[in-house]
Amino acid sequence: MNELILPAPEPEDLAVSLALRLRICSAIDAANGQLAFSDYMQLCLYLPGLGYYSAGKEKFGAAGDFITAPDISPLFAAALARHCVDALQQIENGILLEFGAGNGQLATDLITQFVELECLPSRYCILETSPSLVEAQKQTIFARHPNLTDRVVWLDSLPTSFKGVVIANEVCDAMPVHRLEFTQQGCHELAVTYDGDNLRWCHRPLSEQLKAFAEQIKQLNQDTRPYISEVPLVASAWLNSLAKALQQGAIFILDYGYPASEYYLPERDQGTLRCYYQHQAHDNPLILQGLQDITAHVNFSALAETALSADLDVSGFHYQKDFLLAGGLAELASEQMASSQDVFTQMKMAAALKRLLLPGQMGESFKVLSLSRDIELSRLCPMSDKRYLL
Ligand SMILES: C[S@@+](CC[C@H](N)C(=O)[O-])C[C@H]1O[C@@H](n2cnc3c(N)ncnc32)[C@H](O)[C@@H]1O
Repeated sequence: MNELILPAPEPEDLAVSLALRLRICSAIDAANGQLAFSDYMQLCLYLPGLGYYSAGKEKFGAAGDFITAPDISPLFAAALARHCVDALQQIENGILLEFGAGNGQLATDLITQFVELECLPSRYCILETSPSLVEAQKQTIFARHPNLTDRVVWLDSLPTSFKGVVIANEVCDAMPVHRLEFTQQGCHELAVTYDGDNLRWCHRPLSEQLKAFAEQIKQLNQDTRPYISEVPLVASAWLNSLAKALQQGAIFILDYGYPASEYYLPERDQGTLRCYYQHQAHDNPLILQGLQDITAHVNFSALAETALSADLDVSGFHYQKDFLLAGGLAELASEQMASSQDVFTQMKMAAALKRLLLPGQMGESFKVLSLSRDIELSRLCPMSDKRYLL
């Protein structure tokens, strides 16, 4: 296999990374020499001032490390907005709550759509863990909607009780995961330790919660070869608190991922963890701390199970292409194509649509889990519903 060659970081970025490594080593010491991988990932991504999402460097778009759907085309938000409006119209005084709003593009485009559809929620709330991204979001949103400074609000924590629609686009994949390793000797949790300057993997015994997950994985994957995979305890806990707070409304979780039966297939024997550095993907999270994104595919079955045990309705599980088409993407796109005289603009729009919809691109690798309480999500298409896979 070719050796991975990544672009060399700038000296000032290396200094930030080194400072983060020192903080990680202190955390390893405080954890008796073995830091659970999920705690390591939390520090790498979110340690205030130093973590990947907290340190203020450009992450989105061509100058960053990755591109998300809202940056591909505003048609993504237009189709999602129609699903939200369907839910909001059934809720008296419902809010919109967006988790992890990134660079603010999705919020900006959704608000544009809500205004056009005359269905702007009483409050558009954003819960974002990264202070530097909050600033970026304010700039993007208020540049387009300067008269809405009192309608768009940033929350410090989840409201204890609310009615409305929740959106999490590519947020769950950015939540820390636990990692398990199955060998001939049994199953261990993967943790991080250090020798001198080097961070390296080590093993920890399983907690009771992880033991239950390990049993499930063994039943799904009967293969006896060595195997590594991820467990979404953090995302499940997040959804559980959200479910407790949502009195009435809908939750749309959009992300790349699989149902458990596909997540734990024998051929995925190194798990789904990926790192992104300047648009290059690789699988070593123990380097470039704070400079690279670390992400894992979402286990949608685990989220659906959490939703059910918290008394939410699991209302749909769709490929992104089917969800967007049910939100009217095809009609919206042809209207826009017809109104544009410029061939270059039309070609750009066609390329964006392909990226959002084609199975080999985001169309099928991205899925949408739609959850609800006391409302009907009537825009979801039953013909393309894949709940039977969960
Ligand atoms: C990959 S980015 C996606 C950004 C945006 N939703 C988009 O589609 O472009 C992940 C975002 O989730 C945020 N995030 C991660 N965990 C979070 C949590 N528990 N609560 C709120 N935001 C979170 C990150 O800071 C970042 O803004």
